[in-house]
Amino acid sequence: MKLKPIPIGSEYYFEPTFLFKRKRNLFEFWLNYFKNYKLFFSGRDALRFLLKNLPENNFYLLPSYTCYEVIRPFEELKLNFDFYRICFSPEPEIDFDDILKKSRQKKNPVVIIIEYFGFPVNYELEIPFILDVSHSLLTLSRRNFKIKPLYIFGSLRKLLPLTDGGILFHEKYMKDEIKKENLKALLIKLSASLIRYFHNFAPEATEFLYSFAYNTLDRKFERELIKDRNFKKISAITNYLLKRIPYDFIIKKRRENFIFLLDNLKHEKITPLFNELPENVTPLNFPFFTDEKKRIKETLVKERIFPPTLWPYIPPVIEREKYPEIYRIPEKLLSLPCDHRYNLKHMEKILNVIKDV
Ligand SMILES: Cc1ncc(COP(=O)(O)O)c(C=O)c1O
Repeated sequence: MKLKPIPIGSEYYFEPTFLFKRKRNLFEFWLNYFKNYKLFFSGRDALRFLLKNLPENNFYLLPSYTCYEVIRPFEELKLNFDFYRICFSPEPEIDFDDILKKSRQKKNPVVIIIEYFGFPVNYELEIPFILDVSHSLLTLSRRNFKIKPLYIFGSLRKLLPLTDGGILFHEKYMKDEIKKENLKALLIKLSASLIRYFHNFAPEATEFLYSFAYNTLDRKFERELIKDRNFKKISAITNYLLKRIPYDFIIKKRRENFIFLLDNLKHEKITPLFNELPENVTPLNFPFFTDEKKRIKETLVKERIFPPTLWPYIPPVIEREKYPEIYRIPEKLLSLPCDHRYNLKHMEKILNVIKDV
């Protein structure tokens, strides 16, 4: 059967059919770590709220590979922070010696750990840490931590088809002053999301809307998030959807598609970051390194397959002189989409397109 010429990849969209699914509890696994959680409009809102509730004299160590959305709350709140080294060999690895060295003479060090691409981290130190599960919220495997994380937070939009959402897992009571949702940002994102959704059913009829309005709205949404320095609540619609998202189906599809790509992507110019998919790990996408990034990306995009780079820019506050290796990552990193919207036929199509590059 010939596949419809729908785009493969790019942002998720609001899927109205999920409104009618049965209720289930996505957070059951994480409640093994902490009894309580709070929901926010975005991952950065959850982080900002958390940082405002922590002692002002903490010294934070952030990974040298991260996006500006994670760094910004530390800058805005004028907190004391530095970076520690992440090495890629080819999978991302924490330089624990660098953390030890940089935290040695500091009072109250706290390390921020990101579980890149959904793969869990074994944190071996006894220095307090905060875990960012934006990529690994659906990785339901027990972690080997020497100490329990201080807090766990994450964005809900990286893995789930939601317009907004951030989460913070915590133990003790935390004073709640969370303001209402960011309505303007929500309406912008919902419109973009619906355009993207309907584009799947009528690609020709919605082409104009999709190629112009969708991207403009998406950029506007990001701008609204950046402008808003308060922490806001999750929207009512996302809160409702969150309990109905078929996350077991999402996990199954992501794993199935990833394993298919891993088994069948044999290409001399491509080095996958991960060579196996351990049990219970749910991947964000299928990341790989290549010296032919430009050519591979152009070929895929021509076929309406959109391979993201996580992240395309290194924020200049991560100094190039100190972390030159990090600046080379965006030059050679690409990821193939493998989320729940796609099946093995789509993965086959991706492989066929890549084969001849
Ligand atoms: C690892 C990580 N943490 C936090 C965030 C912030 O999430 P949000 O965009 O929902 O604010 C992002 C994404 O931007 C991210 O990739």
